[in-house]
Amino acid sequence: MRYDRPRLPFGDVRVQLAVQTKKRKTMIITIDGPAGAGKSTVARMLADRLGFEFLDTGAMYRAVAWACVDRGVDLNDVNDVSGTVAEISIQFEGNRIVCNGRDVTTEIRSAEASHAASIVAAVPAVRLEMVRLQRESAADNDYVTEGRDQGSEVFPNSGCKFFLTADLKERAGRRLLELQSRGQSGSMEDVLAQIIDRDERDRSRDIGPLVKADDAIEVDTSGKAIEQVVDYLERTSRKRLVISTSKLA
Ligand code: DC
Repeated sequence: MRYDRPRLPFGDVRVQLAVQTKKRKTMIITIDGPAGAGKSTVARMLADRLGFEFLDTGAMYRAVAWACVDRGVDLNDVNDVSGTVAEISIQFEGNRIVCNGRDVTTEIRSAEASHAASIVAAVPAVRLEMVRLQRESAADNDYVTEGRDQGSEVFPNSGCKFFLTADLKERAGRRLLELQSRGQSGSMEDVLAQIIDRDERDRSRDIGPLVKADDAIEVDTSGKAIEQVVDYLERTSRKRLVISTSKLA
């Protein structure tokens, strides 16, 4: 079925994203940054330590890409991609992600899925729907959310925002290890090229680009142990959330 809802000019999408922002009753910690900066691992650990829920927003864009490929949709056809996202169902069940009734947790982690996700993530209708779902998910519980636009666009009023970075080579090395741990192959050269390509696409899109929010704390994870990074995030979050909660009272 074709999807012929007229494409909105970018200005209108921005207005819609802003209108969706409401004052929140729950606490949100946002962690953004480029591919391979270690966001998912530390975000999950931070959520565990604080007793918060964890939202992996990259997995949502990966699920959209999976649904498009599953339907045989051309990823560069904005109309068809928009039509796919209009009918999508995405659910998190613990650490698993279910898309249109199918557990896609493993499938969405391949190098091809990473590439496809960064293409569909630039489609305005995809971003609008993912942002809506992310805000809806985080409405009733405290969350650590992780992605590219969480502090800048999705939860601009969050009292605690981090932007994780790391050396390009270290990020590529981490991705390579991750792929190998899943039994997938790849060379350091390929992974480096894929990361550069993906970062470029994530940074240059018009809506929800990868960007550090003005009030986010930048954390360079190069050469640091995961525990060391999580310790720092936990200490900082505890301080910040107490301050922002008392400001609200
Ligand atoms: O974090 P990740 O590698 O799983 O993300 C996959 C892709 O999804 C990434 O190339 C950019 C996109 N993404 C996004 O555009 N916005 C987010 N909040 C999270 C991910």
